[in-house]
Amino acid sequence: MKISNRAFNTPASPIRKLFPKAEEATKRGVKIYKLNIGQPDLKTPICIKKRCQNYSKDLVYEPSPGIPELISTWAKYFATDKLPVTDKDLIITTGGSEAIVFALLATCDPNDEVIVFEPFYTNYKSYAIQTGVKLVPVTLKIEDNFHLPKIEEIAKKITSKTKAILINNPSNPTGTVYKKKELQAITDLALKHNLFIISDEVYNEFVLDKKNKFISMMSFTRIRQQLILIENASKKFNVCGARIGALISKNQEIIATATKFAQARLSSPSIEQYALIPIFKTAKKYTQKICQEYKKRRDVIFEGLKKIKGTVCLKPEGAFYIIVKLPVNDTEKFCAWLLDCFNYKKQTVMLAPAKDFYATPNRGLQEVRIAYVLNSKELKKAIEILKIAIDKYNKK
Ligand SMILES: Cc1ncc(COP(=O)(O)O)c(C=O)c1O
Repeated sequence: MKISNRAFNTPASPIRKLFPKAEEATKRGVKIYKLNIGQPDLKTPICIKKRCQNYSKDLVYEPSPGIPELISTWAKYFATDKLPVTDKDLIITTGGSEAIVFALLATCDPNDEVIVFEPFYTNYKSYAIQTGVKLVPVTLKIEDNFHLPKIEEIAKKITSKTKAILINNPSNPTGTVYKKKELQAITDLALKHNLFIISDEVYNEFVLDKKNKFISMMSFTRIRQQLILIENASKKFNVCGARIGALISKNQEIIATATKFAQARLSSPSIEQYALIPIFKTAKKYTQKICQEYKKRRDVIFEGLKKIKGTVCLKPEGAFYIIVKLPVNDTEKFCAWLLDCFNYKKQTVMLAPAKDFYATPNRGLQEVRIAYVLNSKELKKAIEILKIAIDKYNKK
């Protein structure tokens, strides 16, 4: 007996695959500054925790498209940004992850192609393998500030099999916030070639500087029938374990299709759906505060990295990630070495090698992704340790 090729080809998450090494290091008494995973240290709001604690109903299957009251408050939250999302345009999913899988399943058959911008959220690779979709990468370059290339470069990737363009704004892992002109060009391209746009906007509240502005793909009126938005609660409200997201589209055929997929998995979690309802009413106030915190952390990490000789990085504009080129040949080996062989005063750092954030082979070999999910004091410490580690590694 043999497992499927699909199973064999599914990559281990680069964010998680170093966990066994981290466990071993912890057993040896080494403190690890975990900058590998987008799991913020910020607290889940008390109002959410209280609603979980006070939940007394039976844990039944909820309606497959989600609890109506949550659908309604989430749709209204979009209205605060003047986006025309109504209850019938939104279904609740088990995390943004499930919403992306539903979007790929709804728009593509096996072997169809989806254009993505690399480096991208690494799990896109796994979703593509699960759904039989081929990711066709357009490489973003640090010299272009990780912004989109000329539209002709993107158009070159379109074939008769292309069904959609998948874009993540603000971007994990580069922190790019795309400009109106770039997004407009993507919508024009999608309209011209009759493509869907899957717009992963889960970091929509995390734009770190006033000079930049988040623009939802939904604000482009003409594209709406071809558009699927991906949303979640995980990072917005520090509830990563709640597993609640949303798929949004003005195209009712897409919503009906996604609802059929949702019916096959029956229901998203009861308690967490219920618990999230009130926070949407004060969402902006909550996220503005945590955005300030990420801005502070971004400045600490960026200034710290600049002081490490040989590193190359850009100041992220949004989300809470940064791609950094390190003065080492192979960051997979370096990240493993940090956990297996190195410690400074019983401390080390855990980073995500960036190779798997690219679909093009052998790209990003010298890069890591850092998630600035620790407080400023800890981030300063982590950077100091990283600097010492790089010096030691290069003297080996
Ligand atoms: C860009 C992006 N999209 C989607 C997700 C999925 O999030 P979740 O399934 O927790 O909602 C993540 C999680 O880190 C992400 O970074």
